[in-house]
Amino acid sequence: MMLFRMLNKGLLIVFEGIDGSGKTTQAKTLLRRLRARGLAAVFFREPTGGRWGREIRRKALRRGSLTPGEELELFVKDRREDVAKNLGPALAAGKVVVLDRYYFSTIAYQGAKGIDPGRIRRMNEAFSPKPDLVLILDIEAGKGLSRIGDRKRKEELFERKDYLAKVRELFNGFRGRKFVHIDGTGDRKTTSDMILEKVLQVLGG
Ligand code: TMP
Repeated sequence: MMLFRMLNKGLLIVFEGIDGSGKTTQAKTLLRRLRARGLAAVFFREPTGGRWGREIRRKALRRGSLTPGEELELFVKDRREDVAKNLGPALAAGKVVVLDRYYFSTIAYQGAKGIDPGRIRRMNEAFSPKPDLVLILDIEAGKGLSRIGDRKRKEELFERKDYLAKVRELFNGFRGRKFVHIDGTGDRKTTSDMILEKVLQVLGG
């Protein structure tokens, strides 16, 4: 509908969930479906492919090479750059931004490493545009790991599973009007229909 085509300030739709929850697949499906309706929709992900994002992939995602505080600092630097270069301009141009991970990942992942979630939230909300909708895909840690076919050694896998269980709990703790919790093990098409409906509701309302 024409009415939907140009938005005054854009719309920020965020996908969250632990590794293997299916959020990237659902985010890309949503992007395609929004575009098919004639909407100006763009896709971004965090960590980004920028300078800090690449450093994160090099260091932070390698077990034990950074302290949780150093990790937090890198994710926030990467996000500042994402907001300045990608999210801010797209939203200002009235686009629908579909974002694969945002600061709720920092709250959950770095929070699960012992950093105060409230502090992480405050430091991110000081510079990050507030999302219009946060879709959290939920899956049990072990199931998520087997979905992504993680081939780590057994010992490491147990540790990762324990960690992701904590991350999942933090994700499940997000409550409020903007948060939608979705079963990540449901039928893909049914889930994508439900997500599209939610997004169209937000667009229309
Ligand atoms: P990805 O698998 O969605 O590309 O994300 C890469 C990893 O980075 C994933 O295990 C979650 C982690 N991560 C954090 O620990 N903190 C953050 O703020 C973000 C955005 C991701």
